[in-house]
Amino acid sequence: MAEKTRVELEGVPETLLWNLYNRAVEARRADALLRDPLAVELVDGIDYPFERFGEQMSQWHALRVLCFDREVRRFLRARPGGTVVGLGEGLETQFWRVDDGRVRWLTVDLPETVEVRRRLLPDDPPRRRTLAGSALDFAWMDEVDAAEGVLISTQGLLMYLRPAEVESLIAACAERFRGGTLLLDAVPHGLAERSRRGDLAKGAAYQAPPWHWSLDPGEHEKIKAFSPHIAGVRDLRLPRGRGALAIAPWAHLIPLIRKLRMPIVEVRFAG
Ligand SMILES: C[S@@+](CC[C@H](N)C(=O)[O-])C[C@H]1O[C@@H](n2cnc3c(N)ncnc32)[C@H](O)[C@@H]1O
Repeated sequence: MAEKTRVELEGVPETLLWNLYNRAVEARRADALLRDPLAVELVDGIDYPFERFGEQMSQWHALRVLCFDREVRRFLRARPGGTVVGLGEGLETQFWRVDDGRVRWLTVDLPETVEVRRRLLPDDPPRRRTLAGSALDFAWMDEVDAAEGVLISTQGLLMYLRPAEVESLIAACAERFRGGTLLLDAVPHGLAERSRRGDLAKGAAYQAPPWHWSLDPGEHEKIKAFSPHIAGVRDLRLPRGRGALAIAPWAHLIPLIRKLRMPIVEVRFAG
C-alpha cells in the first residue's frame, strides 16, 4: 500500500481537513449528492485522524459545495476563459469538478496551507496557480487576470476573519474587480456567539476555532454598505438534499428555521 502523506495543521488551516472529509464522506455514498472522487482519493492518501470530525455535517456541507459549484459553472458559461479566485481554498477540489477546459484558477491561502496543497495538488500553470499569502494582503490582486471576468469564491473563509477584515476585503475586491462577483457563506449571529462561548460541539472530539464574522439571512444592506461599488446582493439557495434536508431550497419560507440558516450570498460589483 502506498505510504500516506502526513498533514499537520492547526487552528483555522486545520478546518480545511474537516471540509475535505465532509465532501469525501458524501461522495462515498451510493446515493451521493456530490461527485468528488479526488476528495475521496485525498482523504485515503492523508495520514490524519479524520474520524474525529464525525459525519453529521457531511450532507449539509455537500449541499453548500453544490451551491458554490452551480454558481461557478454559471459564471463559466457566461464568461468562458474567465478567472476564478479561491480565497482560503484549502484542499478544495472544485477546479476538478467544474473545469470547462478554459477557466483560469488562482488559489490564495496561508503559507502553511499552500505548502500542503502544493504537495497534494501541484499547480498546472498557466491555468491553475496557487499563491501563498493572506487574502487580507491584497498583493494577490495583482496576480489576477481580469480580462475575461472574475469570480471570487470565499467558501468557508469569512467566518474566521474579524468583521473589519471582512469589510475591507469585500470593499477592496469591489473597487478592484469592477463587474466581477464574489461568493460568500456565513454563519448566523446566534451560532457565531455560541461558537465564541465554546457552546458548540461540547464534548465532541473536534472543536472548530471560533467564528468571528457573522451574518443573518437577508442582511443584504450590511454588505451593500461595505462599498459604493457593490451593485447587488442576492441570497443563493441550497439544492435539495435527502431526508430532513429535502426542504433545503425552501428553508427560507419556513418561519421557525428561516433565521437559523447559514446564508450563501452572491455579491455583484458595479461595472
Ligand atoms: C474552513 S477552511 C475552507 C477550505 C475550503 N474553502 C473548503 O471549503 O474546503 C478555511 C481555509 O481558510 C484559510 N485561511 C484562513 N485565514 C486565511 C487568510 N487570512 N487568507 C487566506 N486563507 C486563509 C485556511 O488556511 C483554510 O484553508
